[in-house]
Amino acid sequence: MPGPLLAAVAWPYANGPRHIGHVAGFGIPSDIWARWARMAGHEVLMVSGTDEHGTPITVEAERQGLTPAELVRRNNEAIVDDLQALGLSYDLFTRTATTNHYAVSQELFRGLLRSGAVIEIEQLAAFSSVDGRTLPDRYIEGTCPICNYPAARGDQCDNCGNQLDPADLIEPRSTIDGKPPVFRTTTQYALDLPRFAPILRPWLDAKLSWRPNVRKFSLRLFDDAVVRAITRDTGWGVPVPVEAWEHDPLKRIYVWFDAVIGYLSASIEWAALTGDELAWQRWWLVEDAEHAYFQGKDNIPFHSFLWPVMLAAYDGPLRDRPDGSHPPLHLPDDVVASEYLTMEGKKFSSSRKVVIYVRDVVERYGPDPLRYYLAIAGPENSDTDFTWAEFVRRNNEELVANWGNLVQRVCAMLRREGATVPERADRPADGEELLDRIAAGFDTVGGSISRFRFKEALVEAMALAQEVNALLSRHEPWKLLKTDRAAALGVLGVAYDAICDLNVMLTPFLPHGAQRVYANLGVDADVPLPERSLVGEGDDRHLVLRTPLGGPTWGPLRMPPGAPLGEASPLFAKLDPSVVDDELARLADAPA
Ligand code: MF3
Ligand code: ZN
Repeated sequence: MPGPLLAAVAWPYANGPRHIGHVAGFGIPSDIWARWARMAGHEVLMVSGTDEHGTPITVEAERQGLTPAELVRRNNEAIVDDLQALGLSYDLFTRTATTNHYAVSQELFRGLLRSGAVIEIEQLAAFSSVDGRTLPDRYIEGTCPICNYPAARGDQCDNCGNQLDPADLIEPRSTIDGKPPVFRTTTQYALDLPRFAPILRPWLDAKLSWRPNVRKFSLRLFDDAVVRAITRDTGWGVPVPVEAWEHDPLKRIYVWFDAVIGYLSASIEWAALTGDELAWQRWWLVEDAEHAYFQGKDNIPFHSFLWPVMLAAYDGPLRDRPDGSHPPLHLPDDVVASEYLTMEGKKFSSSRKVVIYVRDVVERYGPDPLRYYLAIAGPENSDTDFTWAEFVRRNNEELVANWGNLVQRVCAMLRREGATVPERADRPADGEELLDRIAAGFDTVGGSISRFRFKEALVEAMALAQEVNALLSRHEPWKLLKTDRAAALGVLGVAYDAICDLNVMLTPFLPHGAQRVYANLGVDADVPLPERSLVGEGDDRHLVLRTPLGGPTWGPLRMPPGAPLGEASPLFAKLDPSVVDDELARLADAPA
């Protein structure tokens, strides 16, 4: 058994509720992986939180007539609602607004300053020519100096994916007032990335198992490294911990610099909440941990380059272990980046804002159909389009017809025959063979999940379910019951055991539905779901999600013969085809 696993999940911007594209990228993949890993006996820590700084927050707060702090508090709550509704099993989902996060971020900054990775630079910064305030990078648009894309943003080009500085843009203009910004020289702190790129290059070179697009993109980042400012004149964010700036009303740490530190600060907060203050060190100050970072592809530069440099270059008290040793902070092992999910992309032009919110989908259809869809048809390896027609089809033909109905039929027949688990006798040979193949499925499905191939894993589990359906069609136990009850119960017993196993395999994908299937089967299992609470004292009081441990383990599940089945209860609901038209009409009505 390898060391503990860290599921480091991208921190959603506290700029509003989540749409399904967001959770397709970071949410569902990380939860499948973490749930599988816990079931398979790994020690797992899954952390994240809302990413609450950055100038877009101040701009939006002003638009809504709120303080930035009030805006992010509300949005944190909305996002927690979304993630909880999806059943994402965070060990801790917190906020970047916490006292702990500020302290850890400032300590990282100081450590990097000491080690020479953070340096002082003079930089051209953009200010509004209308009101003279700092102009956020992403509110400046212009032509990309690298690929000539005409609508590149000041922080990043969405066409070629490169990180940019606003001053690099050709013909820059403010997207707030349309005027060219004024550039003035300011002093900032910056990360000396070119100095660390060659040092870290061997670490990246060894990552041969990364998804090819992530690896290729990351290698290019290393080759094109430039010095990057990590402070801004925004007045909103973590104060810069140097004497002259500590009380400066404008100087703040750049949002991406503090956000990535969240993985470490949340681990530290999690440890404190468990009562074992140093427990985080088992993940961060050891070599044999495995750290997997889950995100959408626009996050790659920060996870495969910026954050590793910060981790590698940090020196300071966070590296002190109680035994006196001083190991380095653990570097990322996997950067699991998803591609983009578009929504009814072909039907709706970009002039209309096509957004499908998690809360609407979950409210109307429950979490299972969406989790199923995003796991089997999400943007794992290429950009993917979400359509309601496919959503309904996948739900009805796969989740309901192949899986839900199988469980329902087998349980219904067994209920009529005494409602207990049958003796393991009189089983057909092809039934025993099928159970062997399903038992082997724990390795194949688990192996696929461990390598972040979620589609492959779910397709395999569903194919095994299809084989149970085929077994029933071959033996027709509903007919056999009238002529040879023992043989019929033999077949149903195989199907019952197969369903138990497949439900274990499906638990990481469909925690809610799996819980209902366990109940029908008469299996006493508690699939963990995230719970919300308030933690911290005084001004630091904040909302978090945490998830209890426990639940079924990964591997065949055998109930003793004679054990009672559970009550019949609905499993997965068929969706009326009218859902497609209703939802398309809703999208068409949405304000542009
Ligand atoms: N807030 C970013 C986004 O929504 C993700 C931040 S991930 C972290 O795209 F690394 F900064 F935490
Ligand atoms: Zn570009």
